[in-house]
Amino acid sequence: MKGIVLAGGTGSRLFPLTKITNKHLLPIYDKPMIYYPIQTLVDAGIVDIMVVTGGKNSGDFLRLLANGKSFGLKHIDYTYQEGEGGIADALALAEHFADGQKICVVLGDNIIEKSIRCAAEAFRKQPKGARILLKEVDDAERFGVAEVANGRIVGIEEKPKHPRSNYAVTGIYMFDETVFDKVRKLVPSNRGELEITDVNNAYIREGSMEFSFLDGWWTDAGTFSSLLRAANLVAQTRESNSGAGIVYAVGHTD
Ligand code: G1P
Repeated sequence: MKGIVLAGGTGSRLFPLTKITNKHLLPIYDKPMIYYPIQTLVDAGIVDIMVVTGGKNSGDFLRLLANGKSFGLKHIDYTYQEGEGGIADALALAEHFADGQKICVVLGDNIIEKSIRCAAEAFRKQPKGARILLKEVDDAERFGVAEVANGRIVGIEEKPKHPRSNYAVTGIYMFDETVFDKVRKLVPSNRGELEITDVNNAYIREGSMEFSFLDGWWTDAGTFSSLLRAANLVAQTRESNSGAGIVYAVGHTD
């Protein structure tokens, strides 16, 4: 399975932080945002990775990430999204890279605590279709929201005013090779973009959408408050992990 990180867009919700740089280059605690989705893929055993970026700062990704040595990678692929076509439009640019294989797509501003390895394994064994990761949240109206009935997802609504559940669709999507045909059939939404939610609903309609629940905390980082929350969550996790390490060390010196 190949990995794709979507790191385009203008980051308008973070203006003026994004006036002179790309959202995905902003810091989350001690690392640039883009490091986290790449690490998510690497931790799931995915080493063939493409970064889709755009805008005026695309060259900075190459300077920052180079060939991915700091992630133990030999090479990273890059491609450039012109304009503001939305998540599914950015995904379409990765078709030649996917080359008929299954893909795992991670939105560049989605930060997670734990690993998606189990879900990735389940998708590797899944004969066809797609798999998304859900997370229970208190503010579902900010996200794509999945309605689940009898253990199946029956529909996803993008940022509904009155969510039918508190299951947010996280920005981690696993698709088979038919995803690019589905993207080609999309029509732009009210906000003029090709929506990833419409791609997911196409899989739901054909009965081939599976899901897993995401383990540990999850946040996006595309608004001022979620950017701050992401940094705090990473810092707290880092502290509690190193706290556990100190207890362990003390135990051993005793
Ligand atoms: C996008 C998707 C949404 C998903 C979210 C996860 O929203 O459209 O369905 O729940 O990412 O971060 P956006 O970040 O474009 O508002």
